[in-house]
Amino acid sequence: MIIASNFKTNYTRGATKAFIKEIQAFVANTTSKQQVRIFAPFTALDCFDEVAHLKVGAQNFYPVQNGSFTGEIGFEQLEEFGIDTVLIGHSERRHILKESQNFIAQKYDFAKAREVEIIYCIGEPQEIRMQGIDAIMSYLWEQFEGIDIHYDKLIIAYEPVWAIGTGLTASLEDIEEVLTRLRDKLSAPLLYGGSVKVENIDAILHVKACDGVLVGTASWNEKAFCEMIRIADTVKK
Ligand code: PGA
Repeated sequence: MIIASNFKTNYTRGATKAFIKEIQAFVANTTSKQQVRIFAPFTALDCFDEVAHLKVGAQNFYPVQNGSFTGEIGFEQLEEFGIDTVLIGHSERRHILKESQNFIAQKYDFAKAREVEIIYCIGEPQEIRMQGIDAIMSYLWEQFEGIDIHYDKLIIAYEPVWAIGTGLTASLEDIEEVLTRLRDKLSAPLLYGGSVKVENIDAILHVKACDGVLVGTASWNEKAFCEMIRIADTVKK
């Protein structure tokens, strides 16, 4: 399974380095088979030691190799650190940073052309959730506009917007309903994200069609993140 941590706008360079070292040591010293991802802040990217099943990724990029885009990070700056996994379409970028589906699709095509792994995030806001499953699914399918769902390095993260950073988790039934419907049409691994923590990861990973989790808040503590990886190891599917 895939156990991913999204640092968002947290941690300094030094603190991130210490975190990554601790997770690397944990993964290297266990027989864990989980695919671990850590989406670090840009300022903390570096050439980290290689550890099997563990990759440090980028939370964002501007879809250029390099150029004049003041304040943005192009692919050249990611390649310098061997980054080959990126997040695209996170709800904070869609809703707070106002990225359009068109721009997201451009970023997707750019990353795909560079053959990197993409964790592509989708999720519905609260007002759509209130309208029921058909409204939710049509909202989610619209988030695939311009996206090549057959890309072989695609991983999808279903993250209901109302469950991100709020402490509210979708019910297991709701997660299962959405993931099962996504699974009907998509062959990529499916992750769930939205207030995943040590206390609920076991139940979430047992949901049919769930291939892993994307964790924000609860992953920012090394011990908790290691514990989540350990719990994932106990889940037999
Ligand atoms: P959360 O964030 O775990 O804090 O809800 C998840 C995410 O934004 O990916």
